[in-house]
Amino acid sequence: MSPILNDLTLDFVSHSPTQTRRIGARLGTLVGPGDVLCLVGDLGTGKTCFVQGLGRGLAIEGPITSPTFTLINEYRDARDGLTFYHIDLYRVSGVQEALDFGLEEYLYGEGVCAIEWAERIESALPRERLWITLRHLDVNKRGILIRADGPRYELLLRDLKRLAFGV
Ligand SMILES: Nc1ncnc2c1ncn2[C@@H]1O[C@H](COP(=O)(O)OP(=O)(O)OP(=O)(O)O)[C@@H](O)[C@H]1O
Ligand SMILES: [Mg+2]
Repeated sequence: MSPILNDLTLDFVSHSPTQTRRIGARLGTLVGPGDVLCLVGDLGTGKTCFVQGLGRGLAIEGPITSPTFTLINEYRDARDGLTFYHIDLYRVSGVQEALDFGLEEYLYGEGVCAIEWAERIESALPRERLWITLRHLDVNKRGILIRADGPRYELLLRDLKRLAFGV
């Protein structure tokens, strides 16, 4: 992995699902109450794979499976008693449907939210958040671009760079 760095972004190539889970796990060890992690990327680029890593970093027991049919999967008894919400908006038509569903309660609550297809509700998202954009490069290769919006996430990203790349 060769990260191209500035203060607000981390851009690197993952060469396997294992590597994607690993960076997710490292981020998972660093997140705290109220953090909002937005995942963007085409079908099969590895959003759920990354979230599985987050779950491992949060010390969540049991498998993390995609909540495509349920919109939200909630995991309890994680590290520090955090609640982890895995949200998948693939089947959501837009902001209004998400709001009708009560999404704001999760987005502005005390848990950690990881949201697949987050760009679909961009206007409803907190202004401070972390963006994780995945793109397909090759069969087992994915580009992963992480961008911090807001001071909290700049700190989080700085800690992730230190933990994952030693920089
Ligand atoms: N470097 C990689 N990182 C992540 N996944 C990879 C990588 N290389 C290959 N894959 C494969 O790509 C697929 C990613 O699936 P995953 O369900 O995580 O994608 P997704 O972005 O959540 O898709 P969807 O939009 O359907 O929810 C898996 O089959 C995984 O094995
Ligand atoms: Mg998915």
